[in-house]
Amino acid sequence: MMRTIRTSFILAGILCVLTAGTALAQENSRRTDDFDAGWRFIQQDVAKAQTPGFNDRSWRQLDLPHDWSIEGENRQDAPGGGSIGYFPTGVGWYRKTFDVPGYSKDKLYSIEFDGVYMNSTVWINGHELGTWPYGYSSFSYDLTPYLKASGNVIAVRVDNSQQTNSRWYTGSGIYRHVRLVATAKTHFTKWGVFNYTESIGGGAAKVHVESMILNETRDFPRGSVRQIVLDAEGAEVAGTECSVDILAGADTPVVQTVTVPNPKLWDLDNPYMYTLRTVLLVNGQEIDRVENPLGIRTIEYNIDKGFLLNGNQVKMYGVNVHHDGGAMGAAVPERVWERRIEILKEGGCNAIRTAHNPPAPEFLDLCDKHGMLVMDEAFDQWVTPKNSNDYARFFVEWHERDLHAMVARDRNHPSVVMWSIGNEIKDQYTAAGPVYAREMIAYCHKLDPTRLVTSGNDEIASNTPATPEFLAAFENDIVGYNYPDRWRERKELMYAIDKAEFPNRRVVGTETGGNAGSRGIYNIPGFTAENAPARPAGQQSAMPAFRGRRGGLVSSGLIDTERRWVFNRAYDYVIGDFMWTGIDYYGETFWPSRGAGSGYLDNCGFRKDGWWFFKSLWTDEPVLHLLPHWNWRGNEGKIMQVVCYTNMETVELFVNGKSYGSKATEFPRRGVDISWSQAAPGKHYATTADLHLTWDVEYQPGEIKVVGQREGKTYEEVIRTAGAPAQLRATVDRPSFTTKKGDVAHITVEVLDADGNLCPYADNLVNFKVSGARLIGVESGNMSDLSSVKASSRKAYAGMCLGIVAADKPGAVSVEVSADGLTSSTVTFTAQ
Ligand code: GAL
Repeated sequence: MMRTIRTSFILAGILCVLTAGTALAQENSRRTDDFDAGWRFIQQDVAKAQTPGFNDRSWRQLDLPHDWSIEGENRQDAPGGGSIGYFPTGVGWYRKTFDVPGYSKDKLYSIEFDGVYMNSTVWINGHELGTWPYGYSSFSYDLTPYLKASGNVIAVRVDNSQQTNSRWYTGSGIYRHVRLVATAKTHFTKWGVFNYTESIGGGAAKVHVESMILNETRDFPRGSVRQIVLDAEGAEVAGTECSVDILAGADTPVVQTVTVPNPKLWDLDNPYMYTLRTVLLVNGQEIDRVENPLGIRTIEYNIDKGFLLNGNQVKMYGVNVHHDGGAMGAAVPERVWERRIEILKEGGCNAIRTAHNPPAPEFLDLCDKHGMLVMDEAFDQWVTPKNSNDYARFFVEWHERDLHAMVARDRNHPSVVMWSIGNEIKDQYTAAGPVYAREMIAYCHKLDPTRLVTSGNDEIASNTPATPEFLAAFENDIVGYNYPDRWRERKELMYAIDKAEFPNRRVVGTETGGNAGSRGIYNIPGFTAENAPARPAGQQSAMPAFRGRRGGLVSSGLIDTERRWVFNRAYDYVIGDFMWTGIDYYGETFWPSRGAGSGYLDNCGFRKDGWWFFKSLWTDEPVLHLLPHWNWRGNEGKIMQVVCYTNMETVELFVNGKSYGSKATEFPRRGVDISWSQAAPGKHYATTADLHLTWDVEYQPGEIKVVGQREGKTYEEVIRTAGAPAQLRATVDRPSFTTKKGDVAHITVEVLDADGNLCPYADNLVNFKVSGARLIGVESGNMSDLSSVKASSRKAYAGMCLGIVAADKPGAVSVEVSADGLTSSTVTFTAQ
């Protein structure tokens, strides 16, 4: 069945048939070239650098993606200040001289940028193509009128000099990929093919596909559009082809349905991905082809049951994540994201909010691949600014184009399940707010009728609350709450107050309190640390596992998080919760810190205690995690609180062999389900309503041990007082490693004592010597270490640091890590 989208269009075709047989890409069809290599760069403003003959030979040669901010020095007087982590910004220029292989006057050429921060102006052979202000949007320009077969010059001026324009680290430059695209004059429009699952049933899935053809000639050819579904192995499993009368000089929309037999569904445990290949044929010749991700799944937001994926209720165990990749800045290799997503998933996280801007396209490919749900977010400001030079300057003129760039680009990803049009938008209480909210929600629905829209609102119950008109705009969609438990009795009642007043409201915790602090650093009142590197000065929050008003290992922040999760789990209507944040990020800080420590992973991807806490709630895997470390020389005899995050049935604590008793948590708590006098099988008692266990013990060096029981099995976790640093241990994140662009190996370095215990205060300077590959960044998670992340050494922080390497050639790679006075360690692996 096919029909045209707009009835005023000429009937696009009459015949649809099932297709079979492999179609090979043809000469005349689309050609997409990676355009990342071979650029010249200068980090300053230069007059007339857009002129083709300009002499750029003294400029630095580099390959994209590139972020110049991360390469620079942190300075207290940096124009962007703490908001962006005191990194340099300014103006930079990029130029590339290139030939066009197979150049033809019958083709159209365009250049695609996945993201340039910010205010980029592009020239081809001296002709200005345009300026795109928003640094997170993907955009493209038509090069055709100005292109030649050889000796072309593209010049890009990037202007990130107007500060402060962000509340977090942005990076500067062409920090995402660039492609050169050649098509026939009759072609699919950019992001012009959109697919979604219409229905699943009777052993088949119906996939709805809309394709937009643009014919930039005067002809009215008769063609056909072939849709081919490829399985994960690349085999054709379904297809359809419809003939179409293609309009001259105009868009021709085509709507088709492809039936996929025996579909493998995309879900969180088995995120099966198909590819949809869409081919345009004229006179039997292929003239265009595009491929898009296709995941067969249904989503629904039910007012009583929350989020349903393929008909099953899924609570979103979410985290907010900013776009920087630690030592990689904003130019993040794919594998850095993949490792982070893997660790988040391992901890039970199943959803990411892309705070507060659209991510790189490959980030969404990885979320598709790993079964991670995504709330894709557009803006942090609308009309009313938060900083003098932020997006509010551009919003009125640009928001529709930027929203289009997000929704049209990302709507084929099964991982994307919700759009967010803003975070803590100041217009939630201005007259403009509801107007723009309604307009943008309608626009999202126009581009994508399958997903609902939210925004993160922080003032729903404040003294200057969001207006009823503003919230009303989201009543048929989803009302997002930032910090829903912040206001008065909402600490206990959460969403229940609003749900009583607005029974049809769908609610999600777009942003909620999480766990802030520095990995491995414990500031415990009354306790002095041995030789602690101390918590980073200026870091926003540097309490141990969770931020607390008065310190200690357990704080009001932890209690709030626990109560919120009891509520979220008890009430099906709560779609889920996105805590602030999954991963530490640069920016939003005070001198001399470069970043915020609100992640439950640090910016090396190393787990903090909070990761284990959430894992104990979010997974059924056995969790037994003990804190703090046990090196408190000088505090012998003092009473120390020891904490365990666990989902075991019972846990017994021992200090140097002496038992401090057995305790138990139970979550979710079970009621009687047999008869009034018989408890449900399983756990039989809980000693606390908290979701963590504590014991008060006397500190003496030696060892603390927890022994947990679960389903008849015994588990143990031991922490020993570490001796002096004696050796390093280097490990690589995975044995397989390739020279493919975007692949990297992560080298974790730990400082250990002679017996192999992690030294919790170690801050030795670790040198990385790499052969067979390149060291591309070093980090430790210490936001106050202002030394360059592009150096070949890094001080360990709380006993650990990280090196990231990339290989250009296949072969053996060896990474030797050394530090004065310590036994060094070498890790070897192969780049394929
Ligand atoms: C929120 C805001 C986030 C971040 C966070 C810091 O209110 O939405 O972007 O600033 O506070 O705690």
